[in-house]
Amino acid sequence: MSPPTSIAIFGASGDLTHRKLIPALFRNFVKGRLPDRLLVVGFARRPWDDATFRNGLRQAMCSSAPSDDQEQLWQQFADRVIYVQGNLDTAADYRQLDARLGEWERGSGDGADHQRLYYLATAPQYYVPAVRHLAGAGMISQERGRRALIVEKPYGHDLASAEQLDDFVLEHFSERQVFRIDHYLGKETAQNIVFFRFANTIFEPVWNRGYVDNVQITVAETVDVASRAGYYDRSGALRDMMQNHLLQLLALVAMEPPSSLDPQALRNERVKLLSSIRPVEAEDVVLGQYAAYTEGEGVAPGSTTPTFAALRLFIDNWRWQGVPFYLRTGKALKAKTSEISIQFKPPPDIMFDLSEDATFTPNRLSICVQPDEGVHLTFETKVPDSAKDSRSVDMEFHYSDAFDGGELPEAYERLLLDALSADASLFARSDGIRASWRLIDPLLRGPLAERPVATYERSSWGPIEADRLLARAGHVWALGCGH
Ligand code: BG6
Repeated sequence: MSPPTSIAIFGASGDLTHRKLIPALFRNFVKGRLPDRLLVVGFARRPWDDATFRNGLRQAMCSSAPSDDQEQLWQQFADRVIYVQGNLDTAADYRQLDARLGEWERGSGDGADHQRLYYLATAPQYYVPAVRHLAGAGMISQERGRRALIVEKPYGHDLASAEQLDDFVLEHFSERQVFRIDHYLGKETAQNIVFFRFANTIFEPVWNRGYVDNVQITVAETVDVASRAGYYDRSGALRDMMQNHLLQLLALVAMEPPSSLDPQALRNERVKLLSSIRPVEAEDVVLGQYAAYTEGEGVAPGSTTPTFAALRLFIDNWRWQGVPFYLRTGKALKAKTSEISIQFKPPPDIMFDLSEDATFTPNRLSICVQPDEGVHLTFETKVPDSAKDSRSVDMEFHYSDAFDGGELPEAYERLLLDALSADASLFARSDGIRASWRLIDPLLRGPLAERPVATYERSSWGPIEADRLLARAGHVWALGCGH
């Protein structure tokens, strides 16, 4: 049986808590996966009481969950949710929180240990004060049970600030206690990359420079920065998406098989891969900004913040030497899709006597991370009743067909469960965070950061320069998940 467990969410009045964390906890509760003795504490500045907090959470969940027949379950869940008003900068408020947690622990425990998870869902400038005050209030000691810290992204603004933050966190917590969130790692389809690669024998033998021509990772969004401009304008596509989500997808696709599924073994491989990426050359970076971005509310006049970024990367190891990895991500693009496309080499010799206008497309494997999750394999086939024509056809696996349309779990469901059970496989490790920042940091300062930011039309696939980045090697961006 799990020990009495509390999850204290710092910054609980925010969007993340309402839209992601509480819905994910509730779904886990409905599935019977949470500890029986559980307390969820929202900690924020707003002058709310428990009822106001719970009502707000309930309302925020209306669209996603729960349905009417789950109302009773919601009530049972909400009984485990309380609110503590407090200021993230005020030491006394942490002592008050500690007292509330202690009171509940004494009432619900049998004298045994109890575990606490501290979830920093605050603005990043509060990460350091929160850790300092948690330590100051004696809330980190593990004498009476496990204490864990979950930290949201952004984890640092550049390499120096990420290292500084991480050093500070690790002065107070051990690495085993720290769970750095990258919600892309929690996506069902991202987890399946490792499964797909290492539970099947047919792909791994060709998963290398001998057969793969290039690899492409696209994370495209149709939304613009909208009301998030205040944050986004200081961040941009490289920090917001590339340093974390895209590099983690790349690590999953390109890493070596781990020695086991042990969290350390898995993370060793991801970090090893990230550390093998060659520093990016100026000619391999394209930055873009969608038209009229600077007219948006909250955007600094004349801002050059990129809302689009494309990179060409090379991995210096035996498996991938010389294979280009193209990564692109952007806002206000033509379609929402996150996908990984493995483009295989063409056959060494095409013996068919194809007609002049016949197209011959090398094989492509597309891992569709979202929204239509699945895997597609594109291969050439002879057009029936013709000896001269070839056509690309698609073999498709869609989760929605294969698994009876069952909804895939949300990333945060998995991540919260894993943090509860101290499984850090799907979280970034200290050396991994540093390796990814080391790669992105040079693009944020100096000559690389002074590169022009190309304007692109909304609802396009980004600036033309991103196409040229591939065209230099005779490549084109390929989308294989139905766009
Ligand atoms: C977040 C970024 O980490 O990921 C957002 O800050 C982005 O800008 C979001 O929209 C995308 O996540 P998802 O799960 O919707 O692809």
